[in-house]
Amino acid sequence: PPLSRRDVLIAGGALGAAAAFLPRPSLAATPAADGVRRFALKPMPATVPLVGNGHPDTSVWGYNGSVPGPEIRALQGETIEIAVENGLEQATTVHWHGIRLPNAMDGVPHVTQDPIAPGGRFTYRFALPDAGTYWYHPHLGSSEQLGRGLSGALIVEEREPVRVDREMVWLLDDWRLGRDAQIVGGFGDMHDRTHDGRIGNTVTLNGRLTEQLPVRAGERLRLRLVNVANARLFALEFQGHQPQVVALDGHPVTPHAPKDGQIVLGPGMRADIILDMQGRPGEQFQVVDRFYRQMHYRFVDLAYSDEAPLRDSPLNASIRLPANTVPAPDLANAVIHRVHFGGGMMSQMASARMDGRTVGLREMFQHGLAWTVNGEAVSGHLHDPLFRLKQGQSCRMVLENDTAWFHPIHLHGHAFRVIARNGQPVADDAFLDTVLLAPRETAEIAFLADNPGMWMLHCHVLEHQEGGMMGLFEVG
Ligand code: C2O
Ligand code: CU
Repeated sequence: PPLSRRDVLIAGGALGAAAAFLPRPSLAATPAADGVRRFALKPMPATVPLVGNGHPDTSVWGYNGSVPGPEIRALQGETIEIAVENGLEQATTVHWHGIRLPNAMDGVPHVTQDPIAPGGRFTYRFALPDAGTYWYHPHLGSSEQLGRGLSGALIVEEREPVRVDREMVWLLDDWRLGRDAQIVGGFGDMHDRTHDGRIGNTVTLNGRLTEQLPVRAGERLRLRLVNVANARLFALEFQGHQPQVVALDGHPVTPHAPKDGQIVLGPGMRADIILDMQGRPGEQFQVVDRFYRQMHYRFVDLAYSDEAPLRDSPLNASIRLPANTVPAPDLANAVIHRVHFGGGMMSQMASARMDGRTVGLREMFQHGLAWTVNGEAVSGHLHDPLFRLKQGQSCRMVLENDTAWFHPIHLHGHAFRVIARNGQPVADDAFLDTVLLAPRETAEIAFLADNPGMWMLHCHVLEHQEGGMMGLFEVG
C-alpha cells in the first residue's frame, strides 16, 4: 500500500499534518465598459499556513501575498489587462504560460521586455484566443521565484462549457522545507541543476498540505490540474474512479481514459479531467502519485460525505469540449529543424561550445551551466536564435533528448502537435505547449509559425532552464 503523505514527509525530513481543503483566492473582475477585465498583481513576501495544523507559518513570496496567487478568470475571446507592481527586492516579470499572445506581452526578460525593477510597474494586456487551463509565473530568477511560491491559475472559460456539478482547479506544487516549516535555500545548487532539479519534500494542493477532499456521491467534477512545481513530476491515479481526460495544456482532446490509468504531468503541464463520483456516501478513495515508484504516496483522499447521492447514475451529458481554433501545421510543406539537448550528470558528452570556445563538462559546470542546446552552453535569456521561421511557415521540430533525465520542453507563443516519438508516428489530436521527453527520447512536434516575434523554447524543470536548457526561435 502507498505511504501516506505524512509518512513521506517524515521520511523526507519535513513535517506532516492534515489540513482542510481551502478554496483558492480569486480576483473576480467584471468587464469594464470597454469590455476589458482588469486585474492587479503584486508579487511580495508573505507568510502562509502551508503546512498548517499547529506548525509555524511559512515565509513565502506570493502574488498579492497569497499562495497560490489569485486566480485570474475570463471568457474566451475577452481581453484582460493585468497591472503588475513588483513588491519583491529583486527584478521580476510575469509570463502567461500557454497563452498565444503578442510577443511584447510574453514576459521574457531582456527579450520581450525589460525586467520589472523592485517597486517598478508593468501592465500586460492581451486577448484570450483559446479557452482552457493556463497559468502565470515569473520568468526571471525562476528557480527561486517559483520555488518560493510565485504562480497562479489563469482560467479561460468556454463560451459553452460542458455541464458539470462542480469545477476545481488543482495547483500541484512541491516545496523543500526544513523542520521549522521554512523554505530551505540553496536555489541554483549545481546538484539540482545537473540532476533532476529541485525536488522538494512537501507536496501541496493549492498551497496547502491537504489530505482530504470532500466530495459527494453522484456529482460530476471537472478538475483542472496544473503542475506548478519547479521540478517534480506527478503521475496521479484515481483509485476506484474512471477519470476522462478532456483537455491537455488547455486545449480540448477527444475524451479518453488516461494511459495506464495515470495522469502524468511534468512541470508546466496541465490536464482537465472529468470525474464522476461513483463511490457511495461515507466511502473514501485514494488519489495516489506513482511517478517516483520507489516512493509512491497518497496525494489526497476523496472523502465522500454522508449525503444521499446527487443522482443514481452518472450525469448523461456530453463531456467533449468545443475546439479551440489553433491553426493546423501543413506537414507536407513544413521546414524541419533539429534541437538536440545534451549534458547533465551521466552524460557521454565530452565537450561543448561556450562563448566561442570548446570546453569540457567540468568547465561548463564551473560556470553554472549543466546542459547544451545544439552543442552550445549558454546562460541568460537573450542570445542568437536557434533558427528563424517565416510567419505563416509550418515547422517540424525534432527534439532530441540525449540525456539521462526527463525534460518537459515548453514552447512559447504557439501550440503544437506531437507527430512522432522515437521515429514512430503518433496519431493524436492534442495541441500542447509542453512535451515531456523521457531519458534518451526523441519527439517530433509540428506547428504553424503564425505569431511573430522572438520566442523561447526551454525545459520547464527550472533548474535545467537556469543551467542552460533554453533557446530562442524567431518568427517574422
Ligand atoms: Cu511556464 Cu517559459 O514558461
Ligand atoms: Cu530538463
